[in-house]
This record gives sequence, structure tokens and C-alpha cells, in this order.
Amino acid sequence: MQSQTTPVATGRVGFEMRGEVAVLCIDNPPVNAGAHAVRDGLVSGIAQAVAAGATAAVVMGAGRCFIAGSDLREFGKPLQAPELPDVIAAIEAAAFPVVAALHGVALGGGLELALGCDYRLAAPGTMLGLPEVSLGFVPGAGGTQRLPRLTGVSRAIALICDAARIPAETALADGLIDAVVEGDLLQGALDFLAVQGRPKRHIIQRDPPPEAPAVIDAAAARALRRGKRRPNVAEAIRLIRAAGAGDGAEALRDERAVFQDLRLGEDALALRYLFFAERRAASVAGIDGASATKIASVGVVGGGTMGQGIVRALLAAGLRVTLVERDAVMLEKAMTSLTASLEAQVGKGRLSPEAARAQQAALTGAVRYGALTECDLVIEAVFEEMAVKRIVLSGLDAALKPQAIIATNTSYLDIEEMVAGLAHPARVVGLHFFSPADIMPLLEVVRAAQTSAPVLASALSFARKLGKQPVVARVAEGFIGNRIYAAYRRRAELFVLDGAAPEEVDAAIQAFGFAMGPFAVADMSGLDIAWAMRKRQAATRDPQARYVTIPDSLCAAGRFGRKTGKGWYSYGTGKPMPDPEVAEVIAKARTAAGVAPVTYDALTIQRQLMAAIVNEAALLLAEGVAQRPSDVDVVLTNGYGFPRWRGGPLYWAARQDQGALAADMAALAEAVGHGFRAGPVEEFLAQLTAGSED
Ligand code: NAI
Repeated sequence: MQSQTTPVATGRVGFEMRGEVAVLCIDNPPVNAGAHAVRDGLVSGIAQAVAAGATAAVVMGAGRCFIAGSDLREFGKPLQAPELPDVIAAIEAAAFPVVAALHGVALGGGLELALGCDYRLAAPGTMLGLPEVSLGFVPGAGGTQRLPRLTGVSRAIALICDAARIPAETALADGLIDAVVEGDLLQGALDFLAVQGRPKRHIIQRDPPPEAPAVIDAAAARALRRGKRRPNVAEAIRLIRAAGAGDGAEALRDERAVFQDLRLGEDALALRYLFFAERRAASVAGIDGASATKIASVGVVGGGTMGQGIVRALLAAGLRVTLVERDAVMLEKAMTSLTASLEAQVGKGRLSPEAARAQQAALTGAVRYGALTECDLVIEAVFEEMAVKRIVLSGLDAALKPQAIIATNTSYLDIEEMVAGLAHPARVVGLHFFSPADIMPLLEVVRAAQTSAPVLASALSFARKLGKQPVVARVAEGFIGNRIYAAYRRRAELFVLDGAAPEEVDAAIQAFGFAMGPFAVADMSGLDIAWAMRKRQAATRDPQARYVTIPDSLCAAGRFGRKTGKGWYSYGTGKPMPDPEVAEVIAKARTAAGVAPVTYDALTIQRQLMAAIVNEAALLLAEGVAQRPSDVDVVLTNGYGFPRWRGGPLYWAARQDQGALAADMAALAEAVGHGFRAGPVEEFLAQLTAGSED
């Protein structure tokens, strides 16, 4: 029996003999990304195990996880040998069984490596998944071939095409792993190997469990639809289906070729850009993450649409929550609705009954701020009125412990005005959630002039804890997202005034890739709130600016959107249908404005709406409302249904012919007319292209 501790000479993999078992420990902090040095170390480690006469091997990760994925920075260039399939080939060629012992996360190439081993064990709670499809390509080291051989083809289609992350317990039920190991993971792996009869087991030589073709077809159709029919989704489905049709070796070659091609394609480039942009968005120069305070108990004031959504998001993140409403009746209403939504989630199988009970137990209701004295953070989501917000904030400022953070969920109001006169204004920050707050990933973190650095750092780390994508904004009407959206919607309304039908505009922008068009969105959110705002602003509006009266006329006719069954569309059948009454309103508005209607093609509509977004983004970047161009892309893709595979509006614009883009800007200036402000578009696109944003 040998026992030695010799570090492998090359790469970031430790080597040790435990009796006759070789232990290969991947050590590439912080997340053991599957970089070249790791692949190299694994190949050397297996060779060393063979040389040492090992009878088995364990592959595991040091630190917080197994492998969080391949190193994406390597993906834009030719990959250096050994590539991951070479590592797996070395594992398969070894005469002894190799066990992957997983903890933390095993994602992407990390999971493919584990699938290339003979057995897989995982610590409780380990998250497993193949996220490649969400990055514009496909798994390229056997993921599309080995996963279906364990889970079945239809389940593999769902897991791979949704880029799902599943916990070890689900992975065990799916047949993806062999056991969940409580206690010491390495000891668990050694015990597992000590059991007689752990033969070599090449998954690639198996057949997937049998399934009815109709089940597979249904999974494929669903995945293609959810994946917006992107080429990589279609390819992933084709490859996974091939796993059910025989020759594994041939299918692996096919998969590798598709992977090599797609990882350098347009979608993958855009999605990689976004991947790094999203990470960058959570950082602010001069703000030290270490100064963040721990937030365990949170208060929410106001249990309306947003308040309830925020409570759901907080409970799902395992926080203790106290909801305060203005009186017992409103509190009862909100609490009843929250309980019903927990029950509905259990009914849909999205939440276990135990988890629902735990969430319910973590929620308390109250009608006085006195119930909030233990809270580390209190978020207000009361009516959008300055006077109401100021009263609530001063009440909270007096009631809370001095170190507690106060956040406002205001959509438009000036936070600096809101905190004037408070004893501790430095503890107030904006946390602008998007509706529904428990579903939408975006969270605008608004840094007001007085917000302290530790409060901002805490808000950013709290956003991450909620699983949200934070983006930092400065105080400005509509912050980043709503301000850009207003310019986009205005351009869309001008199109309707000038000759396009609302459904033409919606169809054009959906064809571009947006989840919904602006008029369908307006009907969903309700037209009445913006109407009230326009009425308030009527006195100060520039009379020479072009003004589209159509939404006002729709509101005057009681067409407030979906909630009244009609708005820009009619919803008699449940689906949005063009309505002759709306066409009449539009025709009248054109006549009144002296407009001779023009026909627009989809491309013109798309490029003009993009121009409106890009121009407004440049204006707010110049004002310092957003920190960097890529933050705008993160906002639009995470909160406004902008197609992720296009990277974001500024990434898109930077890749256009700049002469054509300048022509779009000139056309935008002409269409908007009096009062149009041109933003320094070229400057910020150059910044984005140079990658010198930080
Ligand atoms: P809502 O009208 O549905 O809810 C407001 C709730 O606050 C009501 O339940 C009301 O009883 C309660 N409330 C009012 N004054 C209170 C007080 N003094 N103490 C305790 N509770 C009080 O409004 P919604 O839509 O939830 O909006 C709330 C805030 O969130 C607003 O600032 C809004 O601008 C913002 N917001 C709204 C979004 C949306 O899509 N609805 C999106 C993002 C932000």
C-alpha cells in the first residue's frame, strides 16, 4: 500500500494517495473555473495515479465548490490542449473507476467532467447544471450525450435548454448522481469506493432510458419555443435526440464541432459580453464590499402590488420579514393574499409544503413601526406620492435602530428631496424593484447624494442575496430603465401618430426579439397612471413639442388596458386584438395634428425605436445617472424584455455601421422635432467598444 503527498508538477490540481486511492483536488480559486491549467493538472493527475498503481481515483474541488464552469475568458480564442474531451478520455482510459465528488456547484464543463467519470457523488445542496445554452452555445464535452443517457432524452432537453440548475437531491432522483453524501465528502467517496463491485462504467456506452417519442417531441417543442428558436437551442435539441439513436463516438464528434462553431458565433459573443457586464454592474469604484452589513431581518411598509412581491422575494431568500400596512383591514388583505400565493406555489409544485410553512412562519404583520425596531433593513413601497413618502420615512427614521438601512422603492420620485430633514439621511438608499418583484431579476440600486458608502455596499450585497441583478443609478426622473423606456415609448407613439398601427409597431419590435411590444406592455401595466401624470404636467409642457393625444383619448373612453378589458387593444377573447374604435381615435388624432399618414416597414420601426433607446442612454450616461454603458445593457435585458442574445441596446449599436446609425439619429431628431436633445452617442459607443468603461 502506498501513501504519499506529492503536488502535481503542472496545473492547479493537487495529488495525494489515500491508501490505494488517488485523490485529485482541483484548486483554482475563487471558483475552480475549468481553465487550461486545471485541465492540464487533471491529465497529469490521472497519469500520476496510473503510475502510482492506484486502484481508484476521486476528483474533487478545493474551497467553496467543485467547478463553477469553464473559464469563459478562454472561449473567444482557440482552446489550448488538453481540451476537456481529452481530460475525459484520460479518465475513461484509466483502468480504475473514477468518482467525482461534488460540492457547492458543478456547472458547465464542471458537470461534463463529472459525467465523464464513472460515478458521481454530491454533498447535500450542491447545485448542478449545464448553462451553455444560456451563453449562446451548446455543451461541448459530452453534456448533450452523457446527460440523456442518465436522465432520459426529454428530461435532458429540458435541463440543457432551460440552462437549469438543480440541487443534488433532484439530481439523485433524475439519475444524474449516484448518491448524496452527508458529512465529510472525501471520506464518503472513499467509503463508496470501498464497497465491492464498483466497476468501470462508461456512460457513453449506455442507451438512454426508453421513452415514448411523443414525450420527447413535446419536450423539444417546448424548449424551442422557450428558447426563442435560437440556432443553438435547435442544435442542442438535435444533439440530445441523437443520444437516443446509437453511436456515441460519432455524436460526441458532432457535438464538439457544433460547440466549436457556436462558441465563436454572434449570440455567444453577445451573451459573453453580457455575462461580464452583469458582474461589473454590481461594482462601484471606491465602494468596498467588505463594508456591507449583514441583513437578516427586513421590514416592508406597504403591502400593495409591489410590497407583496417584495415580501415574496424576501421570504424566498430565507429572510425574516415584517410587513406593515396602514390599518388592520389593509394588513389582513395583504396577509391573506400572501398566504394564498404560498399555497398556489405549493399547488403548482414550485414549493414544498415544508418550505411554504417555513416562509409563512418567517412572516409577521403589523400596523405600527414599533414592530420594526429589530429590522436591519426596511423597504417602503407605499403610494407614489412625495408627501406620503416623506411622512413614512420620517416615521421610520425615528422608530428604527440607528444602524438600520431604509430603502425606498420609488419609481420616479427624487430621493434627495424625500430625505430632506431626516435625522439620518445617509442610511437611505433606493431599491427599485420591477413588477412582479419576486420574478423580475433587475434591481436598480439608487445612490442618492447623501447615501453612505457602507449603505450602498450593503444594498448591493443584499441584492445578490435576493438573487437579483443590481445596477447602480443616480437620482433622476425614472432612474435608468424607466427613463429610457419613456423615450422608447414616445417614439413608438409618434409612429402611430405618423401612420403605423399599434400592432405593426408591436410586431416589428417583437420580431427584433423583444418579449412584448410597447402597446401590449402599456395595456398590461395600465394606461391610467401615465394619464394622471400627463394631466399633472400639462401646465408645464412645451406647447411647441409634438404631443400624441391618442393615449389620453383612450383613457377618456375608459380604455385603461387589460384591467378594463380594452386599451390599445381589445381583450374580449383574452388575447390582444386590434380594435376599430382605436383605429378611429388614431385617425382623428392624425387629422387634428395635420398628419398625412405614412407607411413604415418593420426595419424602419425597429431601427428608430433602437435609436430612441440609444440616444436617451447616451444622455443619461453623460449626466452620470448610469455608471457605464454596459450597465444600460444590463438594465434593458434584465428588466425590459430586451433580447439577451443581442447583448443589449448599446452593444447592438456599437456593432452597427456607424454611418447608418448616424442616419437613424438624424431621422429620430426629425421625427421627435421641437425639443429633441441629441446625446453623445459616439462617445459612449467608443467607450463600450474599447472596453475601457471601468
Ligand atoms: P399600491 O397602491 O398597490 O400599494 C401601496 C400600498 O401601500 C397600499 O397597500 C397602501 O395601503 C399602503 N400604504 C400607503 N400608505 C401607507 C402607510 N403610511 N403605511 C403603510 N402602508 C401604506 O402601489 P404599488 O404599485 O405597490 O407601488 C408602491 C411603490 O412602488 C410606489 O412607490 C411605486 O412607484 C413603486 N413601484 C411600482 C411598480 C409597479 O409596477 N406597480 C414598479 C416599481 C416600483
